[in-house]
Amino acid sequence: MPTDIPAYGLPPRNRRVLLVRRPAGVPQPEDFGIDEVAVPEPGPGEILVRNIYLSVDPAQRGWASAEANYSAPVALGGPMRALAVGVVVRSRAEGVKEGAFLYGWFGWQDYAVVAPTAIVQRAEAAIPLSAHAGLLGINGLTAYLALTELGRPVAGDTVLVSTAGGAVGSYVGQIARNLGCRAIGLTGDDAKVAACVERYGYAGAYNYRTADWAAALADDAPKGLDVYFDNVGGPILDAALRRMAVGGRVVQCGTASIASWVPAPTGPRSEREVLTRRLVWSGFVVFDHVARFEAANAALVGWYGDGRLVYDEDIADGIEHAPGAIKALYAGENRGKKLVYVG
Ligand SMILES: NC(=O)c1ccc[n+]([C@@H]2O[C@H](COP(=O)([O-])OP(=O)(O)OC[C@H]3O[C@@H](n4cnc5c(N)ncnc54)[C@H](OP(=O)(O)O)[C@@H]3O)[C@@H](O)[C@H]2O)c1
Repeated sequence: MPTDIPAYGLPPRNRRVLLVRRPAGVPQPEDFGIDEVAVPEPGPGEILVRNIYLSVDPAQRGWASAEANYSAPVALGGPMRALAVGVVVRSRAEGVKEGAFLYGWFGWQDYAVVAPTAIVQRAEAAIPLSAHAGLLGINGLTAYLALTELGRPVAGDTVLVSTAGGAVGSYVGQIARNLGCRAIGLTGDDAKVAACVERYGYAGAYNYRTADWAAALADDAPKGLDVYFDNVGGPILDAALRRMAVGGRVVQCGTASIASWVPAPTGPRSEREVLTRRLVWSGFVVFDHVARFEAANAALVGWYGDGRLVYDEDIADGIEHAPGAIKALYAGENRGKKLVYVG
């Protein structure tokens, strides 16, 4: 059972954040509209969920756009696709009880009618309810699974991480440290650099906007990087590839720095780096690893429980904050996991 459940009401109408314009690049507030409709009724086999925390994720840029992605784009005029934490207020589905807290595909809206297949995880762990959308949401799951399954670090390894001061990155630094590795973080402002070192388990961190971090790695990682956990792509990835150790692993988890995929961006050619350094470069999508979610939950909750994993949250109050939230996320304004409380 979650340890901290905030107040939530049951409003008589359903406010929805709709995608009204196909974004070019990062979704802007004007790409969304808010309407209000009757609370939907669940049909046979469905549940009615009252959302409490809406998740804001960089992946929403891809879901909203028509750019190459791993899922169909969100329908124009429909509610914005999003993960959320909510409570079941009516259930017509076997095995899902009213009053249960869930994390799943409930969209940016007050209420969602969904089939149980929309549930990603039950929010039952003894952590605050909001943390089910961050620590045990796709951010924590991704940090743990992408690092351990694809990065495969061993004690003593040096692990470089981009977006180190954000939700995923803040967990990766601590998990790497907990596994006996030396993590080095890259982030976009000095306050986040300080948080990386003081709070998120990094042995060192650099502001990629102002520091010559690639040169500094010659001292920080004289034998090269064993793992690069890449969330940004682009020039930071190009530079990191040239600092990899022989046999290093590159985890392609995100591409936040790429402004547009159409036309395909070009840059330095890196195949020679991959060949000469015998790199393994793997793409990660968290939903390919559902079978490992339980193991990830256990590790994350265990470390949280014994004080070896902390998290930060950046929670806006009110659904009207959702339309500008993806833009703010890409601008690096968030301090920890970005959520919108709508309870
Ligand atoms: N593959 C998967 O299954 C999966 C699942 C979850 C998340 N992810 C990826 O993990 C990454 C982090 O996600 P998150 O939810 O934890 O978000 P986050 O790190 O809390 O927020 C996104 C951060 O990206 C950084 N950023 C934005 N534009 C950038 C640029 N041009 N160059 C460098 N950094 C830039 C900003 O931090 P700075 O202030 O440091 O610039 C911003 O705060 C994203 O790339 C996301 O797509 C992947």
